[in-house]
Amino acid sequence: MYVVTGGAGFIGSQLVRDLLAAGERVVVLDDFSSGKRANLQGLEGELEVIETNVVDGLWAGLGKLDPRWGTPTAIVHLAAQVSVVASLQNPLEDARRNHGATLQVLEYARQHRGVRVVLASSAATYGDVDEVPVRESSARWPLSPYGFHKFSSELALRAYATTHGVPTAALRFFNVYGPRQDPSSPYSGVISIFMKRALAGEGITIYGDGEQTRDFVFVSDVSAALRKAASQDFAGDVFNVGTGAETSINVLAQTVVRLAGSASSIGHAPARSGEVQRSCAELSHARDALKYEPSVGLDEGLAATLAWYAS
Ligand code: UD1
Repeated sequence: MYVVTGGAGFIGSQLVRDLLAAGERVVVLDDFSSGKRANLQGLEGELEVIETNVVDGLWAGLGKLDPRWGTPTAIVHLAAQVSVVASLQNPLEDARRNHGATLQVLEYARQHRGVRVVLASSAATYGDVDEVPVRESSARWPLSPYGFHKFSSELALRAYATTHGVPTAALRFFNVYGPRQDPSSPYSGVISIFMKRALAGEGITIYGDGEQTRDFVFVSDVSAALRKAASQDFAGDVFNVGTGAETSINVLAQTVVRLAGSASSIGHAPARSGEVQRSCAELSHARDALKYEPSVGLDEGLAATLAWYAS
């Protein structure tokens, strides 16, 4: 049995689908703050959903796990305050929702021997590093509360593994995209925004000169990495989860417009402040130890994502 906190979110609902398809029993804990019931549509009856506040109520929510479901193989902790901008506006709340919630999951695992903990971490832990592609061992100076709370959560995972023998692993997601990503905020993932606008024939805005790069990883590859991390014992290991390919925002915009057969114009606006210029994952540690191998190329992933937004 797998517990997925944030299982109604964009990444969580993909993981839940993939676990169910593999014949696993799944319990979702979610407060539906950023997750959506619609993301779990069609799965009713196949899984248990415990609606609980994932900050103050996470501990109580884990307490509601029915012993008849068995001890969890792993808790995949995806529930989080997901916005970098919100973390800058309210760092204390971010500490509670990101670092604090992770500690509750770790405490549960300390008290229930054998439960693995897998954390959704982020490339935001790196800050603006010069190294491209970036290795997990690179120096980290995160720039936002979101980034340093993900980093402090990674440190907590490592300490619980070393001090208490709790098996833990953290995955540093790069720029995840795919079906069910919410395009509604200006800070939503760039692919979701570009697709929504391209399909509506609205103008697309690139911030800065568009030569900044990102490593875009399809959500099913992220789900596969999470399942691998949840099915092995690690001791606080940290893994990059990207593709190792760098794509500029200019190329991305042109590709989205072409794939959508859209007449949208592509314009430029001033660069966002505090942006990382280049971002790309070095994958040798994830390949060797996690046996992670991204399998969906950008064109294929963009086409699948576009089909979902168009439906
Ligand atoms: C991403 C993550 C964030 C993480 C950070 C560092 C997402 C949604 N965000 O931020 O959680 O902390 O990496 O690892 O995955 N852009 C445009 N036009 C738009 C929207 C965006 O040009 O309409 C540009 C941005 O300026 C940026 C790039 O596209 O250069 C990617 O933006 P975004 O998808 O917001 O992700 P990151 O800023 O990389």
